[in-house]
Amino acid sequence: MSGTVKLTYGGNEWEFPVLEGSEGEKGIDFGALRKKTGLVAHDPAYGNVGSCESAITFIDGEKGILRYRGYPIEQVAERARFTEVCYLLIYGERPTDDQLKKFRSGLTYHTLLHEDMKKFFEGYPANAHPMAIMASMFASLSTYYPDNDPALNDLNIIRVLAKSKTIAAFAHKKSIGQPFIYPMNDLSWPGNFLRMMFAVPSEPYEVPEVLEEALNLLLILHADHEQNCSTSTMRMVGSSEANLYASISAAICALWGPRHGGANQKVIEMLDQIKKSGMSMDAFLDKVKDRDSGVKLMGFGHRVYKNFDPRAKLLKAAADRIFDQLGVNDPLLDMAKQLEEHALQDEYFVSRKLYPNVDFYSGIIYRAMGIPTEMFTVMFVLGRLPGWIAHWREMRADPGYRIHRPRQIYTGENEREFVDMGRREL
Ligand code: SDX
Repeated sequence: MSGTVKLTYGGNEWEFPVLEGSEGEKGIDFGALRKKTGLVAHDPAYGNVGSCESAITFIDGEKGILRYRGYPIEQVAERARFTEVCYLLIYGERPTDDQLKKFRSGLTYHTLLHEDMKKFFEGYPANAHPMAIMASMFASLSTYYPDNDPALNDLNIIRVLAKSKTIAAFAHKKSIGQPFIYPMNDLSWPGNFLRMMFAVPSEPYEVPEVLEEALNLLLILHADHEQNCSTSTMRMVGSSEANLYASISAAICALWGPRHGGANQKVIEMLDQIKKSGMSMDAFLDKVKDRDSGVKLMGFGHRVYKNFDPRAKLLKAAADRIFDQLGVNDPLLDMAKQLEEHALQDEYFVSRKLYPNVDFYSGIIYRAMGIPTEMFTVMFVLGRLPGWIAHWREMRADPGYRIHRPRQIYTGENEREFVDMGRREL
């Protein structure tokens, strides 16, 4: 605890404790606010509300710092494999060799879906958005693994992380009318996914190392980001004692929105539109600055980062490297860099501390890897799964966790009589 704050209202005075986190963040503990004062704290988008104490990820938005369990994202991105990052985020420490071997073997041997689940894909239209498929398939996994016993949490975590890449790859194959490709047990997590995405039964497929490395980086950079919209959804839904699969299904839906994970798809569509229109960067930015246009610079801005998103910096550097290695020359990358340059010299963006976020460059890299635009947010799901799981597990590990149930300020009609007009069978 770090002292107290005093609240005075209506001639009364109350005192509330101030919590202090391990990085010096402070928060007023309002747990007894309504009971003591009859007042609620009003903050519609929760921009000033700490919903929990968490030891998983630390972000300093002013300084552009991001750490997973205390490890700086720059070091994790450069030195780790995605499987180990999953373990670290979920269980709190880097695994021993034996723990990692067991974890990785679980992610390998639980990759298959029940054969009956393949039938689900037949019902979707070819142009079904894969995020809709992901959300419904994850909820459907709970019909095959209905036991919500906490003793099975670790097994269900393995199932989720192992089967997620299969569902995603099958959704892609369904959309292009190609046969599903089954996982191979001798491949890494990213390698298995790439093979299920791009192999065809009629010819051998060798996982290109450059794609495997690029995917490993992208998955790690998306793995967690503390109490963002979809992770908060994961905690909210999980707080009702909903099972892991249902909670993930809800988080997938939250991530889908263009203000959140759906932005990576929108960034490419925005760049494509600018290119097709022949509009200059400044002309496009003028539209963005015109409030009535409703046009946003997608991939820019962030509720927490008021400095560079460290992930955007890493992805921008990676894009150049991956493009060189792939021998790809996509004009959209140069356009994105020009857009960033113009925006960061423009008072509108500078005054509002709007910088590129994780979605600004990720889509350009996915595109260079041959991943279709509609799959970009699915890629975000695959990366963010360990983070969602880690937060769900952290919340559920507290024996006293309670259902999340915010209050409101009612602004509707005061009491009025519902006049008896006889049964209106209109
Ligand atoms: C992710 O929370 C997380 O950690 C999310 C994430 C994660 O890893 O989980 O980091 C992933 O979701 C990244 C964000 C991806 N979304 C986008 O790129 C969509 C474009 N960005 C905006 O929609 C917006 O910046 C948000 C949603 C990201 C943040 O919205 P806020 O915090 O509510 O900010 P705001 O809307 O209050 O903006 C403040 C001002 C406003 O202008 P004024 O009212 O002061 O005149 O900045 C303007 C906004 O209009 N603004 C933008 C803008 N973002 C904010 N103007 C133009 N283009 C933008 N992108």
